[in-house]
Amino acid sequence: MANIRAAITGVGAYLPEYRLTNEEISKMVDTSDEWIMQRIGIKERRILKEEGKATSDMGARAVENLLEKTGTSPDEVDMLICATITPDMNLPATANIIAHKTNIHNAWSFDLNAACSGFIFSLSTATQFIESGRYKKVVIVAAEKMSSIINYEDRTTCPLFGDGAAAVLVEPSTEDVGVIDYINRVDGLGRHHLHIKAGGSLKPASEETVKNKEHYLYQEGQAVFKAAVSSMADVAAEIMEKHNISSEDVAWLVPHQANMRIIEATARRMGISKKQVMINIRKYGNTTAATIPLCLWDYEKQLKKGDNIILAAFGAGFTWGSTYLKWAYDSE
Ligand code: UT7
Repeated sequence: MANIRAAITGVGAYLPEYRLTNEEISKMVDTSDEWIMQRIGIKERRILKEEGKATSDMGARAVENLLEKTGTSPDEVDMLICATITPDMNLPATANIIAHKTNIHNAWSFDLNAACSGFIFSLSTATQFIESGRYKKVVIVAAEKMSSIINYEDRTTCPLFGDGAAAVLVEPSTEDVGVIDYINRVDGLGRHHLHIKAGGSLKPASEETVKNKEHYLYQEGQAVFKAAVSSMADVAAEIMEKHNISSEDVAWLVPHQANMRIIEATARRMGISKKQVMINIRKYGNTTAATIPLCLWDYEKQLKKGDNIILAAFGAGFTWGSTYLKWAYDSE
């Protein structure tokens, strides 16, 4: 029997309409469009403003878009993984809520928390269920309402993040396409540089934690920046060497979109020119787990069957990794 590979066979997405511009942020904190563009490379980010709407609402819209585009019935889905660090609630899993909202009833589902590496860790997980022959259709949905954990009085974090969701369908293929390999890593020591201080079992939410704004994301930007540049580039270079792929063989590098300078440094280290790199940070900012599938969604029409694609991510944890895949279809 031919080897079964796990292939991405469709991409869907949902982005909230509201655009939070650098001009608006400059009225909220002491910053400027010039600083944000120079140091980060973000012009605007989408924000989910509607009262009572959460991560699962964006995730469900992305999944609906995916199912419609791929002509998949919700009943056919075997498993749904939701990559998120902004679940609707601590329990139950947002994946279950998304499955409910999209009428996926013959499946099981769970959340995967790997911050900005959430999509690639989910893709590695889905790959095992497909390659083993156990499942035929796995949905991965990366959805984040980052605005729910950002302190809009903190200029060091509020320009960086945006809301959004994207979903992919993963199916078996016996052709020479799909996920070839992945390398994933964690270093829990990195948690000190990027975390949320309160609201977990270590420091349950209280009046005082809220007063101290400890329910918001805390980041030591420079330490994270340094680790992101070296780790993301190292692991992407490692997977290229392992598979004897030169920079000319790579059709697209799809890096996590945290900072334009990190994206450029990663591409440089891999010897990849900027025109081979998917970049949409300017219009969506850092949507954490959703950045990589949102890139695939934005660039879908330019992708060709057999294209060599390298995904690379780095995030809180620290978590990081790289996936090598061959694109499975031509978009009409
Ligand atoms: O996706 C998860 C992973 N996260 C990341 O990859 C983020 C990685 N880190 C970064 O992207 C960058 O470190 C930041 C964009 C967060 C910050 O850029 P930086 O070049 O590392 O700046 P810095 O933290 O070294 O700060 C330099 C100066 C400081 O002022 P002083 O102390 O030199 O007077 C900051 O207070 O820039 C100041 N600063 C700002 N100034 C204007 C920080 N944020 C802002 C701002 N506007 N928004």
